[in-house]
Amino acid sequence: MTQLNIDQVVEQAFAGAQYGQFINGEFRPSASGKTYDVTNPATGQVLMTVPDGGASEAQAAVDAAYAALPAWSATPAATRAELMRRAAALMIEQRERLATIMTLEQGKPLTEARGEITYAASFLTWFAGEAERIYGEIVHNSAPNKRIFVLRQAVGVAVLITPWNFPAAMLTRKMGPALAAGCTVICKPAEQTPLTALELGRVFKEAGFPAGVVNIVATSDPIPFSDTVFADERVRKISFTGSTEVGKLLIRNSAATVKRISLELGGNAPFIIFDDADLSAGVAGAMTSKFRNAGQTCVCANRIFVQRGIYDQFAEMFAMKTSAMKVGNGLLPDTLIGPLIDLQAREKIERHVADATAHGARVMLGGSAYPDNPSGTFWTPTVLINVSTDMLVTQEETFGPVAPLIPFDTEEEVVAKANDTPFGLSGYFYTRDVSRVMRVAEKLEFGIIGVNDPLPSTAQAPFGGVKQSGLGREGGSVGIDEYLEVKYVSLGI
Ligand code: SIN
Repeated sequence: MTQLNIDQVVEQAFAGAQYGQFINGEFRPSASGKTYDVTNPATGQVLMTVPDGGASEAQAAVDAAYAALPAWSATPAATRAELMRRAAALMIEQRERLATIMTLEQGKPLTEARGEITYAASFLTWFAGEAERIYGEIVHNSAPNKRIFVLRQAVGVAVLITPWNFPAAMLTRKMGPALAAGCTVICKPAEQTPLTALELGRVFKEAGFPAGVVNIVATSDPIPFSDTVFADERVRKISFTGSTEVGKLLIRNSAATVKRISLELGGNAPFIIFDDADLSAGVAGAMTSKFRNAGQTCVCANRIFVQRGIYDQFAEMFAMKTSAMKVGNGLLPDTLIGPLIDLQAREKIERHVADATAHGARVMLGGSAYPDNPSGTFWTPTVLINVSTDMLVTQEETFGPVAPLIPFDTEEEVVAKANDTPFGLSGYFYTRDVSRVMRVAEKLEFGIIGVNDPLPSTAQAPFGGVKQSGLGREGGSVGIDEYLEVKYVSLGI
């Protein structure tokens, strides 16, 4: 794509756009007057300049969300649901523009960005339905002169902190259940990707959400924001998606005012291909899981275990098909692998590949930065063979397009190796043996299991991890519980 074309896309996508902090239903500059640049990871160029929120924006957002809470939580569920469905419909109507902005600031291929907008809207429609199904209970009485009622009510003001890899869907996966439950929200998108989030703020305004129900604070420095909201008693709930390291810090910070906290943290997903699997489906599945968003997802295959009898054949097919994947700017129609989010991401990949080769792994494909690479953020899809579980690439989340193939002999051995990690977000396996499906699914210590399915994420299923991959679940019928308090009323009569 020529520079001129990118400039045109940028001009069209941002025509008339003026970004501000979205607080109490209006877009405003930051009190300090500070701004920061949002860059395109595919070119390294500045895309837009946005106001830089700090403690005072965090405070204003809490004030607005707290003021809006009584009316919003008392709004009939059907009305809340209608507004949510309207926002979802607007997102779909504006999908092309929203997806283009996402690709510009995040880098993912446009087809994936379009898919993400649809996926993001689905959390609003799913939870609009759930809003109408929040039930209480009447329990049989403990004495003749008593009656027992159990109410489920909105937790209160919720702060939603989201990552850069899914700038729309991770927001709505939290906003959907929060708004459905009757909570008001303050969203803090990742520093790298505030534009999609601020666009969603505009969508919620257009849909007719009352002022203060949805607030969005964009900031280049999360610390003043987070110190302010964590210290504020009026904030009752924190939901965070990001690294395990930051998640642990947030658990500590939430202790001072005993906030409820949900965490969706890092993963180290095993992807197991047994020798009875449909090999082509296994290869295609491993590629889908591994290379979605250039390998920058918490649920992507991080360790690909292949049973020894089919190892060479699998590796050959996998490398051959992977070599045909087009790397490039996500705006180009045939791009399958876009840039990494930044140069730090590339350094991690370089470290993992160097460590693996130093310990005996062999590079079958790629292994280095992509040659045509103005921003330095493109990495050639890489296949490593003869990988063992003592290598860094299998112990840490690589978060890039690097596929380490690890041979194994028995089911027992691979289950033990797959579980040998402090993380437990998602795990996958391919087999045609029904008994094995049940055996292995029950033994794998992960919150999400894909059996012959590389993409299990969907609004109607619970998403979340065990061990150090998180607390709580997003999505599914249980997702709304994270935003509801249980209150017991005992009535003497
Ligand atoms: C993530 O990687 O954090 C989310 C991916 C998904 O929703 O499938």
